[in-house]
Amino acid sequence: MKILGLCGSLRSGSLNAAVLRAAAELTPPPRELAVDPGLDRLPFFNADVEQTALPEVVAELRAAVGAADALLIVTPEYAHGTSGVLKNALEWLVGGGEIAAKPVALASASPAITGGDRARAWLAETLTVMGAQVIPQDLRIPQATLKIADGRVTDEPTREALAALMDDLAHAVAEAREASGTFAS
Ligand SMILES: Cc1cc2nc3c(=O)[nH]c(=O)nc-3n(C[C@H](O)[C@H](O)[C@H](O)COP(=O)(O)O)c2cc1C
Repeated sequence: MKILGLCGSLRSGSLNAAVLRAAAELTPPPRELAVDPGLDRLPFFNADVEQTALPEVVAELRAAVGAADALLIVTPEYAHGTSGVLKNALEWLVGGGEIAAKPVALASASPAITGGDRARAWLAETLTVMGAQVIPQDLRIPQATLKIADGRVTDEPTREALAALMDDLAHAVAEAREASGTFAS
């Protein structure tokens, strides 16, 4: 089972990137979480460019999404929404259609007590309109600076909740495969 991890923050010390790394650690074989190398490689979405000369990096992102069984998207909250970096990536993915029917889990980490709730809600709405299957379980990590240190998720309940989210995502993939008559591993 291949899961693609996307992070909406480009910061080297990103709390959300730390969550994504922890998710990869907590995803044992035969499951595999591949973390996208960074959405900063993408140019700003431009429908003219999409129609005339699709950038190679966009084609690579679309192929990675298409090849994944599911996605884990980890988002920071900026000004009560998701990041422009992530929104830009989603705009490039609209036209490809690879995300349609794909199970997607959302997580957010914020120093605030709201834990990025508004960013996840915003993201869920966008993904739903794109046809993704956003799973009902998600993960909010409020006061994240107390739970993540030196780029690692150190808080045990948070690690357990993240592992549970990965299980929920795997179950959603298995259910989707069962519904389509494909064997689930
Ligand atoms: C421009 C800007 C806007 C922000 N807006 C919010 C916000 O609306 N809600 C929130 O919880 N945190 C907000 N924050 C704080 C971020 O949650 C915090 O910087 C977080 O560490 C960003 O995620 P990262 O560590 O993964 O880069 C904002 C930070 C910046 C720089």
